[in-house]
Amino acid sequence: MAFKLPKLPYSYGALSSVVDKTTMEIHHTKHHAGYTNKLNAAMADAGLGKMTIEDVLKRVSKYSPAVRNNAGGFYNHCMFWKIMVPKGTAVPSAKSKFGKAIVASFGSFENFQEKFAAAAASRFGSGWAWLCSSRTGKLFITSTPNQDNPLMDCADKKGFPIMCIDVWEHAYYLKYQNRRADYVKGFFSVVNWKEVTKRYTAACANKTAPVTTSMSDAVVKPKPTVAKKKVTAKKATTSRAKTTAKKKVTAKKATTAKAKTTAKKKVTAKKATTTKAKTTAKKAVAKKVTPKKKAVKTSAVKKVVKKGVPIKKVTAKRRRVVK
Ligand SMILES: [Fe+2]
Repeated sequence: MAFKLPKLPYSYGALSSVVDKTTMEIHHTKHHAGYTNKLNAAMADAGLGKMTIEDVLKRVSKYSPAVRNNAGGFYNHCMFWKIMVPKGTAVPSAKSKFGKAIVASFGSFENFQEKFAAAAASRFGSGWAWLCSSRTGKLFITSTPNQDNPLMDCADKKGFPIMCIDVWEHAYYLKYQNRRADYVKGFFSVVNWKEVTKRYTAACANKTAPVTTSMSDAVVKPKPTVAKKKVTAKKATTSRAKTTAKKKVTAKKATTAKAKTTAKKKVTAKKATTTKAKTTAKKAVAKKVTPKKKAVKTSAVKKVVKKGVPIKKVTAKRRRVVK
């Protein structure tokens, strides 16, 4: 299971008193969807298994910039959509636990608003402003660059995010252009204080590890994807096929070499047979003209010559002897 783009809890035009419909639609369907898809791809590339988004964020410095940027982009926007609501809700009562915490930390609700707006306005370039709770339940304001957030282990000030505002130009430029302060001022009119209070309560209940959020149901796929398995299987098959092919080639070569050797042996044997045959034939020829007969011939000639027989008679006699 991969991280999923959550649906907005209201229509794209529902916050148009502060953020226009087109900006909301592009922001959700393009920017947030882009972070979600790229996060899933970056997680798969890194071979990361089943993890909540909070688990990713709290050890994000160990991962690639792609995981860091897109994990932040995914989490921050999930939270941002939920802490806004059309027309906003009533601000926390000064008598409530959260109201008291605001006064204790900032002096008054108005002071808190000013400091939060200043953090949002002064964030250089793109980033976010945050209201956070420390592990002891004390509130503080901070801002982060790009898509970083206070849950990240690399954040300057770490804490549990209670409220946030996106100050990337993609969040407000169509309506406000360079007037970021006006956008921040308008934002306070659509804050869902019920959701913000809920997050503060959750932070207080988890003082030792206040990082669990309602987004933790979004987990990444625990096992290698089917596609990855197929690729592995394909690789194994290819490797096997290559080995088989190699074996076949080796076997063929061996067969060819054997055949060549056999052929060579045959040729050698043939040659040997021919030589033997020739030798035998030669011997046979040599045998045919026996030395005995030659001796007879010689002795006969010698005898004839000795007796003084004329040459012609000797020849005739020799012929008889030879015959
Ligand atoms: Fe954004």
